[in-house]
Amino acid sequence: MKSKIKRIAVLTSGGDAPGMNAALRAVVRTSVFHKIECFAIYQGFEGLINNSMKQMNARSVNNIINKGGTLIKSARSLEFRTKEGRKKAYQNIKKNKIDALVVIGGDGSFTGGMIFESEFKVPVIGIPGTIDNDINGTSFTLGYDTAINTVIEVIDKIRDTASSHNRLFFVEVMGRDAGHIALNSGIGAGAEEILIPEEDLGLKRLLDSLKRSEKTGKSSSIVVIAEGEKSGKNVFEIASYVEQNLPYYEVRVSVLGHMQRGGAPSCFDRVLGSRMGVFAVESLKSGSSNVMVGIKDEKMVLTPLNKAIKGKSIINKELIRVSDILSI
Ligand code: F6P
Repeated sequence: MKSKIKRIAVLTSGGDAPGMNAALRAVVRTSVFHKIECFAIYQGFEGLINNSMKQMNARSVNNIINKGGTLIKSARSLEFRTKEGRKKAYQNIKKNKIDALVVIGGDGSFTGGMIFESEFKVPVIGIPGTIDNDINGTSFTLGYDTAINTVIEVIDKIRDTASSHNRLFFVEVMGRDAGHIALNSGIGAGAEEILIPEEDLGLKRLLDSLKRSEKTGKSSSIVVIAEGEKSGKNVFEIASYVEQNLPYYEVRVSVLGHMQRGGAPSCFDRVLGSRMGVFAVESLKSGSSNVMVGIKDEKMVLTPLNKAIKGKSIINKELIRVSDILSI
């Protein structure tokens, strides 16, 4: 059967993530390979509303596989959340004769894409790009691997100064709703305790654990806290709570912030972005839409967008146990 898709457009939306450029490059080049015209939309859905797009060719994406951020920029568009905004976006889709849309982003971006597809019948395919790794239907999202490697590199440095001064450090990492970054980088960096949104173990447990480690002769410790942690206290409040209850600890706080989203993508994220980009275009070409590409057990898979945004990816309890055992 001959594909109806002659022209596609691609955008990156939501928080940028290392590996988005690799995915963009793959979308552009796979389109060229299959003789599909490819347009890049600048600044996510904002660019679709403002008709900010440019035709790409294989050379437009030279030398970007190794770059962090996103060449075509990103935004969290408030206007696209309105029916009016989406109407303007659709007018530009028609004006530019776009047959399908590739959305590289996280759950908010996929929700926008899904609504757009249902309102205007424009085929949409998602590529999961977020450092949080909180999308259903893929074991890994773009940028997550790079982010956890950035985090452990920084915590290793914090550990040097923590151990030189016999200090207890609280390190806040990203993860508004998900603890994947905290849990994996915490284990990788040998953290004493890890606080994540999915498990509210209470601050008493934290105190008990820190008391224990003091008794067993630990002179310095690192506690990793996801920003969306559920105790109801932020990292500074948790730190001062511990300081008040365990005055023998000299406490410091470090909030890693947006540095976690930057930097050159890891090899894993470059390969993942490349595979996802190829699979996205070829899936669109063979008639799939309203789905997200993902990777599971080393195989590329498709998941309906409405499932991808629901339920989030589940925290692996085994990791919690590993962390508990190894932090004695
Ligand atoms: O969605 C990824 C994420 O990095 C979250 O972990 C974090 O809470 C959020 O983005 C920060 O977003 P912004 O850059 O808009 O402040």
